[in-house]
Amino acid sequence: MGRLMLILAPTLDSVQEVNEYIMSQIPGEEKEYCSADSVCKSDRDSDVTGEWFTAEFLNEIKCSGLPNHKLRLKENVSVMLMRNIDQARGLCNGTRLLVNYLGKSIIGATVLTGTNIGDKIVLSRKNLIPTDPGLPFKFQRRQFPLTLCFAMTINKSQGQSLSHVGIYLPRPVFTHGQLYVAMSRVRSRNGLKLLILDDEQKVCTSTKNVVYREIFTNV
Ligand SMILES: *[C@@H]1O[C@H](CO)[C@@H](O)[C@H](O)[C@H]1NC(C)=O
Ligand SMILES: *[C@@H]1O[C@H](CO)[C@@H](O)[C@H](O)[C@H]1NC(C)=O
Ligand SMILES: *[C@@H]1O[C@H](CO)[C@@H](O)[C@H](O)[C@H]1NC(C)=O
Repeated sequence: MGRLMLILAPTLDSVQEVNEYIMSQIPGEEKEYCSADSVCKSDRDSDVTGEWFTAEFLNEIKCSGLPNHKLRLKENVSVMLMRNIDQARGLCNGTRLLVNYLGKSIIGATVLTGTNIGDKIVLSRKNLIPTDPGLPFKFQRRQFPLTLCFAMTINKSQGQSLSHVGIYLPRPVFTHGQLYVAMSRVRSRNGLKLLILDDEQKVCTSTKNVVYREIFTNV
């Protein structure tokens, strides 16, 4: 598989499934980076008592745009930046990187997309504050702003132009619009691979509610 192959999948669960499967196929040892989470000062002495916010409680929090407490990586996996680090050097939220070195407190990587392809960079942990308005208090997570990126959700892929795309549909319950968005990310029909599983997880070649011909005339 080429390094810039990207798999699109409909849900976060299916994205995670693909990411973990591909990482398991890459040789080498897995390294786990745990975050340090804490409640932000401004919320520490508010009416909610500090006892509530145990490390375990904060570690469990998962929200979009924030890496999880445990980040598992290997050398040679492909990851995506989750924050703007240095826009002048092309290190933006969404930039994809190839991991070259996994140190204790730094990660070395090569830029794969954007304006500075090929640059070697070094990343350290950052204090990340989630922007999720659903959280009734502010906390920060000190973690590498990275997420595995062999796969991403179809919704997130909007606006990206990609040369090689695989589409993974674990269930053929798809809106026409979503499949269209996924297929229109790719510049040519040769760069597209589809894997569709039916309800019994068998591979099928067509999916309900989809008109292929119409989609391919737009590719
Ligand atoms: C994707 O975006 C559409 C609207 O553009 C929305 O209706 C749908 O719920 C989103 N799907 C996911 C999995 O977030
Ligand atoms: C990562 O890829 C490089 C180049 O293909 C290879 O030399 C190296 O052994 C790989 N690292 C691991 C841990 O497999
Ligand atoms: C990163 O980009 C995504 C969309 O691609 C956006 O939803 C998110 O808010 C951005 N995060 C930051 C911290 O800019």
